Amino acid sequence: MKIQSICCLGAGYVGGPTMAMIAAKCPGITVTVCDMNQQRIDAWNSDELPVYEPGLQEVVESARGRNLHFTTDIRAAIAAADLIFVCVGTPTKSYGIGAGRAADLRYIESAARIIAEVSEGHKIIVEKSTIPVKTATAIQAILAANSSTGATFQVLSNPEFLAEGTAVADMENPDRILIGGEQTPDGQAALEALVSVYANWVPREKIITTNLWSSELSKLVANAFLAQRISSINSISALCEATGADVDEVSRAIGADSRIGPKFLKSSVGFGGSCFQKDILNLVYLCESFNLAEAAAYWRSVVTMNDWQKSRFVEKIVRTLFNTVSGKRIAVLGFAFKKDTNDTRESAAIHIVRNLVAENAHVIIYDPRVPVETIHRDLLEVGVPQDIIDFNVEITSDPYTACSGAHALATLTEWDEFRNLDFARIHDLMLKPAFVFDGRAILPTATLKALGFETFVIGKGQ
Ligand code: NAD
Ligand code: UGA
Repeated sequence: MKIQSICCLGAGYVGGPTMAMIAAKCPGITVTVCDMNQQRIDAWNSDELPVYEPGLQEVVESARGRNLHFTTDIRAAIAAADLIFVCVGTPTKSYGIGAGRAADLRYIESAARIIAEVSEGHKIIVEKSTIPVKTATAIQAILAANSSTGATFQVLSNPEFLAEGTAVADMENPDRILIGGEQTPDGQAALEALVSVYANWVPREKIITTNLWSSELSKLVANAFLAQRISSINSISALCEATGADVDEVSRAIGADSRIGPKFLKSSVGFGGSCFQKDILNLVYLCESFNLAEAAAYWRSVVTMNDWQKSRFVEKIVRTLFNTVSGKRIAVLGFAFKKDTNDTRESAAIHIVRNLVAENAHVIIYDPRVPVETIHRDLLEVGVPQDIIDFNVEITSDPYTACSGAHALATLTEWDEFRNLDFARIHDLMLKPAFVFDGRAILPTATLKALGFETFVIGKGQ
């Protein structure tokens, strides 16, 4: 089966960029990305894309209007497609059974229902959203029960491994593409059809094919292993601070062992992003559902360690500033969950700012990409009252303004531009003693010390 027309439900962080890459690499395939969110679709059709990713604008512009289209006409796009990617959100459930842990699958279900309603003939449905293992069974059941035209479906799993900030490079040259399918002739035919789409630019040996459940589960496990490394090194960062060891030196020493490897060993204020915590909690819930309490507790501890790292950083600031930050100005550099993205979902900065203002601090935030409205929304969502946001939180478009009159400066995102700030100027602008809390270990500590700053660096003994 040769794929000529692809549709994607969900024009978010994953749907938009992944489909743009497929369209750019496969000029013979028509790719239509749809979403009910008109504003998002309008943004994809404009020069101001809704997602900031280095290199993404060029990829979108190379195919948009040729074989890449963004629309809210979901039904027409489904009807015209041979293959439909489901790329809708799967947030942590906030209500009912499994609240706070299980994945909320309502968008997946609504996508399956509309596909069933509109489809005719044969369609391949591809789960690209991150979902609990066995979700394909639910999708198959909804499709089978709701099609009135006798349409037939094959469901595949094709999880996405791109990381934000490096999405274009990750998609252009992926470590692997994972595709799971039913172990039947029809399942294998569908699987091969999707393999042939990726084979337009990904070497065949990098395309791993498995059964459906292995593919679904591997996505959760990949994120859990990555997050576990960060929690592991962050637990060691506390020990380094207590003993005089240097966490970056420890990371380098252990990462040189080829069995451990050097990546994902950078200590921080805690991992953020829309997926790590959500996917680990999802894994925890799955383990609990299968009565595997010890396995659930093991993975749960990765999140517990991450929460501790965030609150520990705030405690360090409060204790160092003579046990009170009440009325003090704290400059926060960076609000995105990592550099090179405007995404703030689950950013450690949200929790750190919330806890600082809970101590009556006055926080002035600078981030090169995150809009004011996003910061306000994020703080409201974690329970910071509007009047506190109005009086105790300032957002500025200039890092020096943020530092002006500040008692302390805290780096929460590893934006490259923070490394090269004029620290002599910042020292002049700040109250003395001028404290720096480097939550990403990116600033030139020796220079800062020479200028007279009091410095604390995550994972570095004093
Ligand atoms: P997102 O919230 O940015 O986008 C999801 C979009 O789906 C929204 O715009 C929403 O309006 C739309 N939608 C919901 N129901 C729909 C329907 N029935 N039809 C059409 N559109 C619909 O989410 P995201 O960050 O793109 O994540 C999507 C999935 O991909 C999640 O399961 C996530 O875990 C996974 N994932 C995300 C990343 C990442 O870096 N963000 C990476 C890998 C995997
Ligand atoms: C992560 C995975 O890396 C992707 O493979 C996956 O597809 C994606 O989740 C997903 O499923 O959504 P992402 O969250 O975009 O990607 O970004 P990461 O680079 O993994 O960073 C996550 C968080 O960990 C960030 O807050 C980052 O600052 C932090 N981090 C990362 C560290 O604190 N230390 C490190 O060594 C690496």
